[in-house]
Amino acid sequence: KYIDWNPVMAEKAGFRHFMQKEIYEQPRAVTDTLRGKYSLEESLIRLPELDEISGALKDASRIHIVACGTSWHAGLVGKFLLEKFAGVPVEVDIASEYRYRDTILDENVIFLAITQSGETADTLAAMRMAKKKGCSTLAICNVLGSSVSREADGVIYTHAGPEIGVASTKAFTTQITCLYMLGIYLGQIRNTMNEKSRSEYIHSLLGVPEQMEYVLNKDSEIENIAKDFKDYKDFLFLGRHLNYPVALEGALKLKEISYIHAEGYPAGEMKHGPIALIDENMPVFTLATKSRVYDKIVSNIEEVKARDGIVIATVTENDTHLADKCDAVISIPGTSEEVSVFLNTVVTQFFAYHCARLLGNDVDQPRNLAKSVTVE
Ligand code: AGP
Repeated sequence: KYIDWNPVMAEKAGFRHFMQKEIYEQPRAVTDTLRGKYSLEESLIRLPELDEISGALKDASRIHIVACGTSWHAGLVGKFLLEKFAGVPVEVDIASEYRYRDTILDENVIFLAITQSGETADTLAAMRMAKKKGCSTLAICNVLGSSVSREADGVIYTHAGPEIGVASTKAFTTQITCLYMLGIYLGQIRNTMNEKSRSEYIHSLLGVPEQMEYVLNKDSEIENIAKDFKDYKDFLFLGRHLNYPVALEGALKLKEISYIHAEGYPAGEMKHGPIALIDENMPVFTLATKSRVYDKIVSNIEEVKARDGIVIATVTENDTHLADKCDAVISIPGTSEEVSVFLNTVVTQFFAYHCARLLGNDVDQPRNLAKSVTVE
């Protein structure tokens, strides 16, 4: 018996594209990122890489998260986690904006760069500016020895492994893993989280890889939905609270590789403008899993349906109420809102991947895009 693999396919471990392989690698990547960083006995997160700046982290009055593209979306998720766990005000900025603003900075601000490559020109320049103004600098980065990782005062590494596909997938979910750990760590050192709640959140984070595996099994189900919707020219992605950044990320993925116009919006903003666009030509991809804002998202879906709109939604398993209202649903396991971010992300990654592939696009090397943007 012979193996009908060529060397390129072997590199892709049998997957058709690097992006597909990298979507599937996420449970492993999240596990590797978590490895050695927690103690279940003591309900603690351990980040010895931050020892040098732990004093600054303890006393900081604000945190500025700065990044570009997908990494910026991770930062937006990070704001929820850090503010919730550590009670510290967090601002999230796009690096190319931040570096040219009269940003108010002093030594009480912690600057946190998020970057897969560690070489993004705007993120690096923003970090240098913050450092000059006396901030302690922290980075979440995937590449050892990269410029950002060399220059930051402390680095938490994502252990995603090399990400070859231009469209970022496993880098995003591992960045969120790091932000989750950083939030708990700050909660520990700033005394804003008790042992019981640390224990609950650590356990819930450790459950992510297995729940992601479950969503990976939805691959062909999502492929079938992509078959039905790939020819639409415009999409609206809606999410709220922690899943608002996931809506932005879902729209970005679809744009980058499928070349389908898509916009991500916080669902509550729909009535302030985008609702005018609703018709039978623009599917609305809604992240409608159970959360504190579930009822509000259901109202959004009803508003779309009342205007003859089309709704694709991610829902929590056994949510028959929404299944009846929507044109297509993908159900994910019931989980905390914090963990739902990981699972909803995998669904939107698959959706963009299958639309792009079915449209015959070069998934791994989309037109006009570079893996890392090292110039302004
Ligand atoms: C996402 O799919 C893109 N490849 C892009 O938005 C990317 O996240 C951005 O260029 C930032 O890159 P970095 O994380 O390497 O800094």
